[in-house]
Amino acid sequence: MNFKNAIVRQPGKNFSQGLTTANLGSPDELLALEQHAAYCRALQDCGLKLATLGPDLNYPDSTFVEDPAILLPTAAIITRPGAASRAGEVVSMRRELGRFYSKFYEITSPGTLEGGDICKADNHFFIGISNRTNEEGARQLSEFLAQEGYTSSMVDIRNIPGILHLKTGIAYLGNHTLILVERLRDHPMFKDYRTISVDPQENYAANCILINGRVLIAKGFPKFQSQLEALGYNTLPLEVSEFEKMDGGLSCLSLRF
Ligand code: GLY
Repeated sequence: MNFKNAIVRQPGKNFSQGLTTANLGSPDELLALEQHAAYCRALQDCGLKLATLGPDLNYPDSTFVEDPAILLPTAAIITRPGAASRAGEVVSMRRELGRFYSKFYEITSPGTLEGGDICKADNHFFIGISNRTNEEGARQLSEFLAQEGYTSSMVDIRNIPGILHLKTGIAYLGNHTLILVERLRDHPMFKDYRTISVDPQENYAANCILINGRVLIAKGFPKFQSQLEALGYNTLPLEVSEFEKMDGGLSCLSLRF
């Protein structure tokens, strides 16, 4: 699928006050802005037109714009983040998406769901059940997706250490091919896919994104980069160290549609 647009939001001055379990130290504000700018340029190089939102100091994690919405060609789904400090991020995202979409669905209480737990693989969606996305949120999403002609299945990641969202450990690269961290490699849900396993020392690299024929990958994971290049993928490595410190990655930093 070709993407035309992306929504991004610059990290704010209080980005370091967001949620994190990474234990990698506090992010450097200026470096985060530089890395974000380079990420935006990379999206543009991949042919995307950007809608860039300014920092929202009410929500330190709001640079991770992927979590408040799921975008389909025909409709937008507004999520209900499971992290209380992120719940209000949906309000400004709903407003922004009104510029692009006329059809909306919304995850409602008691459902919770964050976009990081949703992995689209052609016409199928994997929905991670995590500490942020509950079964009711997944059930509601699955119904909305069915109405729009998609299938879905749930993958429980609550007992898998080190995986905040499903896409912390999985990515879809088209052609029935999934990137998987070792702990998800033998999951029965993925048995019909061709899989590329990430070396456990490079787990962070699993969060990569395919955009219009290029694969954006985190810089500093040479085995993973070589693996993809040997398979013929056109990689574009980007430094995202400051976002890694806040449990975020390449997919979380944009909504692509
Ligand atoms: N810091 C990103 C998150 O925890 O949602």
